Amino acid sequence: MIERLSEPATASMWCRKMRTQGLQIGLVPTMGALHEGHLSLVRRALQENDRVCASIFVNPLQFNEHSDLLSYPLSPDQDVQLLDRIGCHMVFFGTLDAFFPQLKPEQIPMQEPGPYSLGLEGDSRPGHFAGVATIVKRLFEVTKPSRTYFGEKDFQQSLVVRDLARKMGYPEVVVCQTSREPGGLARSSRNRGLDDIQRRHARCLSVALRCTRSAWQAGERDAQILESLLWESLDNAGVEIVYATLRDPDQWTKQAPKGYLVRAQALVAARIGGIRLIDNMRLDSTAELDSGDSESSRQAIG
Ligand code: PAJ
Repeated sequence: MIERLSEPATASMWCRKMRTQGLQIGLVPTMGALHEGHLSLVRRALQENDRVCASIFVNPLQFNEHSDLLSYPLSPDQDVQLLDRIGCHMVFFGTLDAFFPQLKPEQIPMQEPGPYSLGLEGDSRPGHFAGVATIVKRLFEVTKPSRTYFGEKDFQQSLVVRDLARKMGYPEVVVCQTSREPGGLARSSRNRGLDDIQRRHARCLSVALRCTRSAWQAGERDAQILESLLWESLDNAGVEIVYATLRDPDQWTKQAPKGYLVRAQALVAARIGGIRLIDNMRLDSTAELDSGDSESSRQAIG
């Protein structure tokens, strides 16, 4: 039976007890409204650790639009059931008050999110990565896990978190492949807000990424040409493009690289009926796009 805890002090004690028994803890931070993508992270954590803790906290610090925070889906009881069913050992619900006792939100010391927060999501959602880094740091401090599991779906976030873990000296960050619905749409809690037509429009994100990857596979290496292709394939009446661009995944830059590329990650963000979706794909990779579940890449710290 899963342990359901809501106080950082109790969660911290539970984790300490496990560690003193020599057990390794895997942490999967989430904002709830769990889907198969989240569960693939938990399953991976269960394979590699003695105990797994999932956290559920809709973190107000990382929402730059209040309406987005208010409309974020919640299903705590269903989430606990799903976690229990797959064998997760502990679920930890937070509140801002509990994470930062006696501080008003504006008094909370924000974590500097580092160089990977520049550009794309960082530009499009000011303050977002500082909010993510601040809460993820607290989660690491509370649970002191051996390993933590993040999704490649939020590619830039995985870089920010890996950098934070490197600075803190722990935990090992494991980045897991994006889990997709049968039509290719990346699973996301936000997909719950899409109606059937919007869902069909939303598929064009993964289709555009796949087209661009096909061009790469056919030998195209020019950054501008690949980016234009990405834009053209996203050109769809129901989709408002926020960004569609490329980065060198091993050398993050605020601006898009120009000219000949040796490696490339294509990244897109778009609004569909007011719902903001993101997706990305490594172009120089043979990883199977449509595999529903996670082949994960381990990213070494240090
Ligand atoms: P959330 O959006 O709930 O995602 C929690 C974790 O699940 C993240 O690491 C995310 O990348 C991963 N994830 C989401 N969709 C996925 C998919 N389709 N396939 C694989 N993994 C997927 O990301 C956050 O919450 C928050 O920013 C958080 C890290 C919890 C900090 O508040």
